[in-house]
Amino acid sequence: MVFKLRKAEPKDVPDILRLVKELAKYEAMEHQVMLTEKDLLEDGFGDTPFYHCIIAEIQEESSSDDLNVVGFAMYYFTYDPWVGKQLYLEDFYVMDKYRGLGMGSEILRHLSDLAVKTRCTGMMFVVAENNEPSVQFYKRRGAEDLSQEEGWRLFRFDKDSLVKMATHSEE
Ligand code: COA
Repeated sequence: MVFKLRKAEPKDVPDILRLVKELAKYEAMEHQVMLTEKDLLEDGFGDTPFYHCIIAEIQEESSSDDLNVVGFAMYYFTYDPWVGKQLYLEDFYVMDKYRGLGMGSEILRHLSDLAVKTRCTGMMFVVAENNEPSVQFYKRRGAEDLSQEEGWRLFRFDKDSLVKMATHSEE
């Protein structure tokens, strides 16, 4: 099956949201997706893009013209005060039917090229502990499990905590 990778465009927003939801469902956390197409459009395609996406699309043999978006990776750049620029891989998903055809590997190759070109010193990402197929997929490609090796824990202040702190700091 022939597939093509390309940078996401504003017209891809409905497909991006569809795939974000499919990945959240795969992780049994679909109810946590609050984002709308409007958010994705404003946040990814405004003056200061907060994320970037690579899209994987295929032409189904049965349909003559339409290209179908079947996978994607969402990423952005972060900064590590010890080693500098990092590419952060936020979402990475290929639809069930199209897995095992090399699309995921090609997306990672593309992102690795980009990371090397922009002089990033690493690619960071979080994987759910129970997502063993993906843990193995990344490990086979040389990824290190920092939670295990260095003992980092993932934290978040949710919006309520932020508002509380913000209000207190104003008093
Ligand atoms: N499904 C998944 N993997 C399969 C497979 C199938 N039906 N059939 C074979 N594989 C093997 C491939 O042989 C390959 O093995 P390798 O690591 O030895 O090369 C690997 O699994 C898949 O490689 P590839 O085809 O390049 O990747 P992909 O297009 O299947 O995409 C993921 C990889 C992880 C994006 C995809 O499996 C996926 O979307 N998984 C569910 C969502 C997920 O866990 N995302 C990552 C969140 S951190």
